[in-house]
Amino acid sequence: MFKVAVIPGDGIGPEVVSEGLKILDALEETTSLRTRRTQLDVGSSRFLRSGELLTEEDLSILIKQDAIFFGSIGDPRVPTGILEKGILLAIRTRLDQFVNLRPIRSWGDYSRLKNDKPFNITFLRENTEDFYMGAGGIFEGGKGRVPLKIKRALYDLEMDLNALSSNQDDYAFEIGVLSRKGIERFADYVMSHAKRTGQERVSVVDKANVCTNLYGLWRDVFRDRAKRNSIDLEFVFVDSMAMALIRNPEHFGMIATPNMFGDILTDLGAEIQGSLGLSASGNINPFGVPMFEPVHGSAPDIAGRNRANPIGAILAVKLMLEHLGMPNLGNMIEDGVEHTIEKGIVTPDLGGTSTTFEVGDSVAEFLRSV
Ligand code: NAD
Ligand code: IPM
Ligand code: MN
Repeated sequence: MFKVAVIPGDGIGPEVVSEGLKILDALEETTSLRTRRTQLDVGSSRFLRSGELLTEEDLSILIKQDAIFFGSIGDPRVPTGILEKGILLAIRTRLDQFVNLRPIRSWGDYSRLKNDKPFNITFLRENTEDFYMGAGGIFEGGKGRVPLKIKRALYDLEMDLNALSSNQDDYAFEIGVLSRKGIERFADYVMSHAKRTGQERVSVVDKANVCTNLYGLWRDVFRDRAKRNSIDLEFVFVDSMAMALIRNPEHFGMIATPNMFGDILTDLGAEIQGSLGLSASGNINPFGVPMFEPVHGSAPDIAGRNRANPIGAILAVKLMLEHLGMPNLGNMIEDGVEHTIEKGIVTPDLGGTSTTFEVGDSVAEFLRSV
């Protein structure tokens, strides 16, 4: 019996999560898989009602689970960043889910690229540091002091910044930080994942030609870890990676990336498959509670219309079952998705006319029939 917390969240989150749960239901009917699910009311509606984001009580429930299945958050009625930082990033950092696994692959003719060579790439994104530290502020009038307190599972870090400018303008800043220990544990995970999945080369993304301090340390650690593990490395600047993902994605097998560049490149990666709605993501702490979610957000522009693509959420269930030690069930889900896509049962983002429900039903039906 696996304990799974379910957080549908906002916008299309609940719509796609219910299709993911349909897949779990189908597998529980036909295999020995059993889950005990606890749904949490976390997201914009609770925030607008009570002002609560992620509470200590929510966390005390989350840490008792085997996994979390998350939809999406974000609501136009709430100032941008409040829910994103107060819920999603809070879960990732409080549960110390320092790796974000985001696989992409081509799905036959649905690829956006003219080059129709098949591709299959595992993105591993560092998930708790970089420009996601929340270390920012404003020096109003060009002077003053901003004390910063950063709390992570690995450390507490205080920084005290003083500014004095030559004019009275306002200065906003947001600091990117990488700790040596943070990079080391991420690079170790990348190396072990590469070995486990038979990758000979890892492509490491950064902008070490400009952010020389931040990504200089990143490169040093990766060089060291690659040598120890006899893995080939190539360093690729993020701008060049954006180009290469369009030009020849088939070149890449595993891409390791800092947090912010990983956020951007994985939306690009998702879309070259055919749609952002196809991509799934696992937030992993190898020693703690993982969280699985689609890569996309709450898509307020299409919410409530039964037209969101649920495949990202369904493949998030696949990643969850794989992570919980059931790769065979994961493969069955992917076969079900392939079968559904091949039959042309796809939502409008992929050029189809099927609904969210119909796509979920088709995958569930496939699972019941095998
Ligand atoms: P988004 O991912 O929600 O949507 C981007 C575009 O892709 C929209 O046109 C949307 O309709 C489309 N799209 C996304 N998912 C789709 C799906 N499953 N099927 C079909 N089309 C889909 O990004 P955004 O519009 O930049 O952000 C909206 C809100 O979501 C913001 O509040 C943002 O902060 C938040 N967000 C949350 C997450 C998350 O919860 N993991 C991720 C990204 C953005
Ligand atoms: C994602 C999202 C989040 C991120 C936001 C909503 C905090 O874009 O999961 O890709 O930047 O990681
Ligand atoms: Mn994103």
